[in-house]
Amino acid sequence: MPAASLSPERALARIDLGAIERNCARLPGELCAVVKADGYGHGAVAEAALAGGASWLAVATADEARALRDAGIDARLLVMGALTRADLRMAVHADADVVAWTDEVAEAAPRVHVKFDTGMGRLGTTDRARALRLAAHSNVVGLMTHFSTADEPGDEHFAAQLAEFISFVERVGRPELTVHAANSAAALRDPASHFDMVRCGIAIYGMDPFHEDPAAHELEPALSLHSYVAAVRRFEAGESAGYGRTWRAERPTWVATIPIGYGDGWRRGLSNNADVLIRGRRHPLVGAISMDNITVALGDATDVEVGDEVTLIGRQGREQILAEEVARRLGTINYEITCGLSARVRREHFR
Ligand SMILES: Cc1ncc(COP(=O)(O)O)c(C=O)c1O
Repeated sequence: MPAASLSPERALARIDLGAIERNCARLPGELCAVVKADGYGHGAVAEAALAGGASWLAVATADEARALRDAGIDARLLVMGALTRADLRMAVHADADVVAWTDEVAEAAPRVHVKFDTGMGRLGTTDRARALRLAAHSNVVGLMTHFSTADEPGDEHFAAQLAEFISFVERVGRPELTVHAANSAAALRDPASHFDMVRCGIAIYGMDPFHEDPAAHELEPALSLHSYVAAVRRFEAGESAGYGRTWRAERPTWVATIPIGYGDGWRRGLSNNADVLIRGRRHPLVGAISMDNITVALGDATDVEVGDEVTLIGRQGREQILAEEVARRLGTINYEITCGLSARVRREHFR
C-alpha cells in the first residue's frame, strides 16, 4: 500500500479556498459572505470569498470586524449582532456598517441597517412604526430582516415573513437603500427573497443549508478533518477500549488509536456513533471518545499501519464523510460541527 498521502499530523483541518471561491460564485445576486465565528470554523476565508465575487462581508461582533481590518481587508463590512457602547465604538472605528433597531444605535453610527423582525423572534424590532421611524434617518443605508425557517422547504412562516418584509420595504419607499433578507437557504430556495443582496454563510463553506447533501446544490465542502493512526493493537474477544468500557470486542479484532478527541471538538456524543476513513475504507469508532484520543475498530484490516492518514470529515477514494452526516449522528446541524472544531486543530489553507 502507498504511504499516507499527508505527512501525519495530530489534528488538521484542511480548507480548500478554491472551493470557497467557487461556492461564492455559484450563489445568486450580490453576495455578502458571512464569515463570523472564524469563518464558521474555517479560519481566514475572507479573501477567498471576495475573490469568489462577494462584495460585502458580514460578522457578528465588532471584534470580528476589527480583526478583518487588521488583516488588511478593505471590503464593506456589516456587523450583524447586538452591540454594547464599547462594541459600537469599535465597529465604527473599523469603518463597518452596523445593524440597528434602537434610536441609540441608529443615531451613533455613520452607516446603519435597520432590522425589522418579521418573525425570527430574536434581534430587531417587531414594532413596525418604530422600524419606519428609524428607516427615515439620513444615516440609514440598508433595511434587513432574517428568516427563521428558510431551511424548511414548504414552511408557511417563511412566506409570511417575506410578505411582511416586502410590505415594510414598500412602505419605507427609499429605493436607494440596500435591502437584504436571504440567508443561504432562502437564497437557494426563493429568488423573491434576494432583493439587493443575499447574506450567505453555510453555503459558501460548501455545506448544505437544508442539512442533506451539498452536491444537490452544486456546493463543494471546503473543510476536511484529518488525524493519523498512532497505534494499532489486536484485541481478544471481551477486551474493552476506552473509559467506561462502553465497547468490548465480540471476537478478535484490530483496533487503531487516533490522537484526536473532544478537546479538538470531536464531540463525545460520537462515542460508538461515527465512522472514520482509513485507506479509503469506513471504520467504526468504538468506545468512548476521550479528550485526546478515539479508538476505531479495524476488523481484520491488518494492512493499516501506524502513520496512516485518518479522515474524519472529507473524502478518501470513493468514500466521503460529510459534516452533515456527523451532525445527524449528534442530533445537531452542520454549522455546529465546523464551528465546534477547537483552536487546537491547526487550519491549513490551500487552493
Ligand atoms: C442575520 C444573519 N444573516 C445571515 C446569516 C447567514 O446564515 P446561513 O449561514 O444560514 O447562510 C446569519 C447566520 O446565522 C445571520 O445571523
